[in-house]
Amino acid sequence: MCGIVGYIGHREAYPIVIKGLKRLEYRGYDSAGVMLYDGTDLKISKTKGKVSDLEARSQQEITTNGTIGMGHTRWATHGVPNDVNSHPHLSNSGNLAIIHNGIIENYEPLKKELIKRGYTFTSDTDTEVLVNLIEDVQKKDGLKLGKAVQVALNQVVGAYAICVFDKNKPDEIVVARLGSPLAIGVGESEYFIASDASPFIEYTSNAIYLEDEEMAIVRLHKPLKIRKIKDDSLVDPYVQELQMNLEQIEKGGYDHFMLKEIYEQPNVIKDTYRGRLHASTGLIQMAGVEDNLEKFLNADRILIIACGTSWHAGLVAEYIIEEFARIPVEVEYASEFRYRNPIITPKDVVIAISQSGETADTLAAIKLAKEKGAFVFGVCNVVGSSISRETNGGAYTHAGPEIGVASTKAFTTQITVLTMIALRLAKAKGTLSNSDYFRYLQELELIPEKVAEALHSNTISKEIAEIYKDASNCLYLGRGYNFPVALEGALKLKEISYIHAEGYPAAEMKHGPIALIDEKMPVVVIAPKQGHYDKIVSNIQEIKSRSGKIIAIVTKGDVQVKELADHVIEIPETSDALSPLITTIPLQLLSYHIAVLRGCNVDQPRNLAKSVTVE
Ligand code: F6R
Repeated sequence: MCGIVGYIGHREAYPIVIKGLKRLEYRGYDSAGVMLYDGTDLKISKTKGKVSDLEARSQQEITTNGTIGMGHTRWATHGVPNDVNSHPHLSNSGNLAIIHNGIIENYEPLKKELIKRGYTFTSDTDTEVLVNLIEDVQKKDGLKLGKAVQVALNQVVGAYAICVFDKNKPDEIVVARLGSPLAIGVGESEYFIASDASPFIEYTSNAIYLEDEEMAIVRLHKPLKIRKIKDDSLVDPYVQELQMNLEQIEKGGYDHFMLKEIYEQPNVIKDTYRGRLHASTGLIQMAGVEDNLEKFLNADRILIIACGTSWHAGLVAEYIIEEFARIPVEVEYASEFRYRNPIITPKDVVIAISQSGETADTLAAIKLAKEKGAFVFGVCNVVGSSISRETNGGAYTHAGPEIGVASTKAFTTQITVLTMIALRLAKAKGTLSNSDYFRYLQELELIPEKVAEALHSNTISKEIAEIYKDASNCLYLGRGYNFPVALEGALKLKEISYIHAEGYPAAEMKHGPIALIDEKMPVVVIAPKQGHYDKIVSNIQEIKSRSGKIIAIVTKGDVQVKELADHVIEIPETSDALSPLITTIPLQLLSYHIAVLRGCNVDQPRNLAKSVTVE
């Protein structure tokens, strides 16, 4: 994970790097560091803690002038978060500085070899090994920095996005990528380097995304040269026009990104289906699906691979695709799939779901599925991300940048895309009646309005949060389409408030979890009117008779559950299949308010990072 930023040009680098790091803190935030070059000297400041801690410390510790700079915000992999393990790392001579996002898997043998050759190490990191390996190659073979980086990287196993600076060659920064993202912003006589485009969005809308196994020498007043690390061949730089704007990556008056992103859902769901869903004519047009329609229609089964919240969206899709299109669907954790020699055939269609498009396990699972001949379709949010490039076809969710670590709008937009796919397949296969097909299309078009209405539950969610903020455990129950929503609700609560929470299919409760229920246990039950309402009412009765505290998500106007539950949150009515798009909203708000009331850092929960680029 980790975020990296670099600048080389005519402006002061420090404010650009610090502001950029703040925007990338979603990628890791246990320590941070900065390097500046002021024309004569290389200055480094680094610290355990957040970028704001770095800002305070660096202003005391170093003079912050210089038009070349690099910065790093860390999510520890090798070595605990402390000042010494923070990046940048220097080579033994003090001439080279490096920042690195990724993992050098073979760092131990490399380190042993370097120690034999007289190198010493101050940190526990794999990155310090890499910078010394580069220095060693430079010295041994008398190579310039770019060449030395290339030779060193050919000895490395693992993943990286790196920036390397040599104070003896202070007009350039060498960058390279394998498995971790790296974007280069191209300005007028200046270049920006970052893990994504957010750090340089106000300076330039031209960006080049390095591909895996590519490197570039970013040199002042020179056009960019990109090479393949393995065979040194030159690659034509492809300059993309960025779609992102500054407003999208700022909080816009909300206390937290998570809250802003929860409230963005009516609009982003609309963005997701805009131009694709035409309810009046009964058309669903998604280029990625149309181009590969035969693949989907001839598939023996659809296999969905994802992690975390995206995996939950996959579970919702399993129910929807099987119901609408009658194609067998299996959903797997990418991390399990990639290591278990799964049976995959060219008759399988694999759908990989990922907000970031950078999740290492999902990426590896995609590669495995492709090797075994499957057609892989991506559902990603981040345009140009590794997964979107690695897949054979795909559809973007168009949710805009999601900065809060806890996924919210990514989940509902993923479900929107997957529902449209299911409907398109159903139409082609004739597995839904015409009237049902049209009804779902019309309902989907109304979802943004209903999500906006569900957001009115903010006040009651906050009141309920006040009552349960000190709970130690919490259960989430749902059935059918809302079983994955129960899992998602529990994940939201545990990841941002650190309350232990579990989601279950409501009927599974009596096979074990019911033993946990007593008067201290809050149980969130998703009980919309459509679906298995009577069954869930029975489950609520079972909880009540064991004195559990019931927080029920019910359809507006509900009477029966209201009589049984301790608290109810009303949501607008929609069909069972589309209900996850609505039932999710109060669960997001409930987790948010509980976390805020507990004083937790909602946008940057401990131990987590937005983009999990390590396995
Ligand atoms: C939870 C959350 C994570 C991600 C997971 C996959 O709120 O955000 O569970 O869903 O790390 O990430 P992506 O979707 O980027 O592949």
